[in-house]
Amino acid sequence: DWTMAAFKDQAMDAIRRQVGGGKVICGLSGGVDSSVVAVLIHEAIGDQLTCVYVDTGLMRAGESEQVVSLFRDKYNIPLIHRDASDLFLGELEGVEDPETKRKTIGRLFIDVFDEEASKVGGAEFLAQGTLYPDVIESVSFAGGPSVTIKSHHNVGGLPERMNMKLVEPLRELFKDEVRDLGRELGMASELVDRHPFPGPGLAIRIPGAITRDRLEILRKADTIYLDEIRKAGLYNEIWQAFAVLLPVRTVGVMGDNRTYEYVCALRAVTSTDGMTADYYPFTHEFLGRTSTRIINEVKGINRVVYDTTSKPPGTIEWE
Ligand code: XMP
Repeated sequence: DWTMAAFKDQAMDAIRRQVGGGKVICGLSGGVDSSVVAVLIHEAIGDQLTCVYVDTGLMRAGESEQVVSLFRDKYNIPLIHRDASDLFLGELEGVEDPETKRKTIGRLFIDVFDEEASKVGGAEFLAQGTLYPDVIESVSFAGGPSVTIKSHHNVGGLPERMNMKLVEPLRELFKDEVRDLGRELGMASELVDRHPFPGPGLAIRIPGAITRDRLEILRKADTIYLDEIRKAGLYNEIWQAFAVLLPVRTVGVMGDNRTYEYVCALRAVTSTDGMTADYYPFTHEFLGRTSTRIINEVKGINRVVYDTTSKPPGTIEWE
């Protein structure tokens, strides 16, 4: 009968058979899928694997440092860390349209990744954390035509451009199975149970133009929100939770002063595969406490709202 331990052994055999003595490059995002792929492949073929982490400048607070130290120091996996934040933020300046943001980020990501990967020399294989739901690229509505809702920056384009063969050991798995595989590989819960994070990062959590100031404000609010979720013991009950910084300012009062600052929206959903989702029913106490902390501790935000939209008709991300 089927067990994750058996799947792991088969997957490692398949990787060894596919790549032989060849070199493999794996793009790390800090997310569960690419992390599990990297650890699995490293276990199978050791230092024939090199990971590439591209810092887009669109990550959450502290995330890049965590990824680099975890993979370099704890797992001893050869890792190239490229800080490309100036490039990404420069090209995104003034870009407001969601699809333009996604396409710009996707194009730059491929350029930078390609450049870094080519430094490895002679790598024939590209590893990706493609899951079963990613294989279904477009969503078909009851009876209607098939429609692509959002372009995903991290699936298409790269392998063709780089002329590499794909290694995709998670292709048949759903997210919960990837987490089981990670546990089977001995990976820590903080890594395996992480919420998904989109390739375009915080760029699609700031409707309108992205600036360094807005990114800093969003990071602070997001950190407080997730801190409260963890303290309440709710992190693992929620599929995904994050703050969104709205490009709208509203009037408030703080002490004797009038304030005129941004609105922050909080999002949290339950889901099994990201295809459909329900908003998470926090208690009023939780929402009140979190709003108060964000408004008191984050300069630039004076109002917090909670998003009660499920998917469909909403999407999980705001862009
Ligand atoms: P939506 O917003 O379409 O998101 O309901 C469904 C799930 O996909 C994630 N997402 C992305 N992940 N690259 C990714 O790797 C992307 O471009 C992207 N867009 C959305 C989103 O966070 C949610 O988990």
